[in-house]
Amino acid sequence: MQQELDRLEAAALSELHDVKTISQLEEWRIRYLGKKSALTSALRSLGSQPPEQRRAVGAHANTIKANLQSLLNAKQETLSLSSIDQSIGGASLDVTLPGRSMPIGRLHPITQVIQEICAVFARMGFQVIDGPEVERDYYNFEALNIPHDHPARDMFATLWIDSKEDRDARLLRTHTSPMQIRIMEQHKPPLRFVVPGRTYRYEATDATHDWMFHQVEGLAVDTDITLRDLKETLFEFCRSIFGRDTGVRFRCDYFPFVEPGGEIAIECFQCKGGGCRLCGGTGWLEILGTGMVHPDVLARCGVDPAVYSGFAFGMGVERITILRYGVDDIRHFYSGDFRFLRQF
Ligand code: DAH
Repeated sequence: MQQELDRLEAAALSELHDVKTISQLEEWRIRYLGKKSALTSALRSLGSQPPEQRRAVGAHANTIKANLQSLLNAKQETLSLSSIDQSIGGASLDVTLPGRSMPIGRLHPITQVIQEICAVFARMGFQVIDGPEVERDYYNFEALNIPHDHPARDMFATLWIDSKEDRDARLLRTHTSPMQIRIMEQHKPPLRFVVPGRTYRYEATDATHDWMFHQVEGLAVDTDITLRDLKETLFEFCRSIFGRDTGVRFRCDYFPFVEPGGEIAIECFQCKGGGCRLCGGTGWLEILGTGMVHPDVLARCGVDPAVYSGFAFGMGVERITILRYGVDDIRHFYSGDFRFLRQF
């Protein structure tokens, strides 16, 4: 009886191996596991076996049955998967259809312009670092020659974190210039650094103002830096970004932390200096604020103004991007509108 069962199992296995279709599999099931199969009748006839064999044969037959049943299930699965494969793959593959392209992301336009600006200065030997967006009054104002009662505080509508009456209140930095102080506190000259980053102003938003925007600050300190180094470096920067034959101009301006302070403008690329709406009729577009680092600022950071001098500059990244690409509203940058962002 035992041997018969083994033979039966061997036959079932070898036939199962040759089964190729669902209907063949069904025939196989009926033959080996169906009501009239040899296995089923062997189990049914157990009662007529001598009692001492009944238990052993019964267990053996049940193991074989369970094994065949699980092989059946597995085969069913593979056959039905491959029949799905055939129905998709066989009939409907249209090789003339255009492929589906993978959408590729890109960097935000402001990130792209920041990288470009930093790359220009990196070529000229500047290191790139960043600094905290939550600043202290001391770094944002005081150390930059803007004490508590100084009217220049009005230039910067400030988002305060602590009460602005506190001596060293925290605030969201209104410009990247506080990093000038942190750099000079932490590094010895010669220094050449650029600092890209977010800045904040307590301001109502409109087409040209946002309460958060980006600046790139720059600082160079060495033993013999002059106004000429400032002009050459920044003129070269403007021509790298806006084109080799762009007209560039330096004019004096006032910032408390530089002396002399200045502003650098490029010739309006829309009207070529004639005067238009973009440049407000002046023929020039202001690009950045700059100046020779004020001796008091140097001294406050432990840099001897009798030995060292330096220049600093700061520019608005959104403004430069807007001018360069003719963007009509600063709020586009952070609206999350892909129709706008995809253009860059
Ligand atoms: N921090 C100034 C601002 O936000 C810009 C600026 C002006 C930066 C002159 C400088 C500088 O480093 O020398 O308006």
